[in-house]
Amino acid sequence: MIKRIASEHLRVGMFVHHMECGWMDHPFLVNQFKISQPGEIAKLKQHGIAWVSIDTARGLDLSSEGSDEEASVTPPLENEEALDLDLDAPTLPPLQVDTAEAMQAVVVLPVPLAEEMGVARQVLSEASALMATVMDEARMGRMVDLERMEPVVEKMIQSVLRNPGALSCLGRMRQKDQYTFEHSVNVSVLLANFCHHMGMDRRTIRDATIGGLLHDVGKVHTPDAILNKAGPLTDDEFAQIRNHVGQGVDMVGSIHGISDQSLTIVAQHHEHMDGGGYPIGLKGEQISQLGQMAAIVDVYEALTSSRSYRAAMEPSQALQRIFRWSTQQFNHALVQRFIQCVGIYPVGTLVLLDSGMLAIVTEINPANLLRPQVRVVLDSRRDLVVTPRDLNLSKPTVKERIVSSEPAAKWKINMELYL
Ligand SMILES: [Fe+2]
Repeated sequence: MIKRIASEHLRVGMFVHHMECGWMDHPFLVNQFKISQPGEIAKLKQHGIAWVSIDTARGLDLSSEGSDEEASVTPPLENEEALDLDLDAPTLPPLQVDTAEAMQAVVVLPVPLAEEMGVARQVLSEASALMATVMDEARMGRMVDLERMEPVVEKMIQSVLRNPGALSCLGRMRQKDQYTFEHSVNVSVLLANFCHHMGMDRRTIRDATIGGLLHDVGKVHTPDAILNKAGPLTDDEFAQIRNHVGQGVDMVGSIHGISDQSLTIVAQHHEHMDGGGYPIGLKGEQISQLGQMAAIVDVYEALTSSRSYRAAMEPSQALQRIFRWSTQQFNHALVQRFIQCVGIYPVGTLVLLDSGMLAIVTEINPANLLRPQVRVVLDSRRDLVVTPRDLNLSKPTVKERIVSSEPAAKWKINMELYL
């Protein structure tokens, strides 16, 4: 039930359905959210928001802490701390509690790429099917609930933890026409990978995976003609593209149980460190770490994907470009960490060795990104397929070096067959 109440009666655990002010007149990323700490109530009051509506189906009611009459006479500031302690645990949706426990219980052991590829293919298909459904339903004004997303998200995370290269290299090899949902799956995988590389906890990896899947869902309202336009965009078209962030925040913000971390990714993935991004023009540390990471991943994925109007860029070129932009657009230290995470020659990249042999990267070497482990598959000088053999370019006895990365299409190699 939606109830209009004075802001002074707000408590931790209530779900704010509507704030009586304009969209940009409040300090929150979203228009709807569950109050998780007393500071949020204080922030709301500081911004002069005197009245709000709460949704009692999605959070605590006034009566949850006594009668309405009691609540209406209780001075809010005196009781916030006690209420926070008393009510914090019961306000967590059961799904979050269960998942958190499950996450701590599972220990994931790393496996070689070849061992993970079969599972990763299946997980990628499931993730793509999920996102196709999410986009279709979003187009019709509905959002898939988190409980339906959770099993696929968990499988994605497990795969990334077992072998960080498998899902991401498959995602790059399998780009199709359905750009937005393939892009969302790939961003999600890369972001999970990046968070894992940064040593973040399982809860954050899970929130980032969900945020990555949903970061562009607002694009269901952007006309395809604009999304796929090859030429320069008019001011009006660009404004429509920019709207996908606010629309995405509204849509994702209404999902029951969505975390602030997932929402931050939706809200901030186009913000730039120098303040030149959108929709708000946040600057530097005003952008959360996950927002800064999502911005890097989003651009990297876009550059390394083929679109209807341009070919995909090789990962090493894309990283070079992002590195160059990192003085203004991105967090420079995070860009360096991202390069360490995916490697200059990421898993699944076709590379030309100075011996003239073509090889596929099967494992990056964190100590030397220019010398990964590779699988030799073709002799480029004679255009001859050879019996695949593994080569660790970081071994002192191995003299071959990478000259460049090569587009797989140019050599008509079905990379998946070799991984
Ligand atoms: Fe976007």
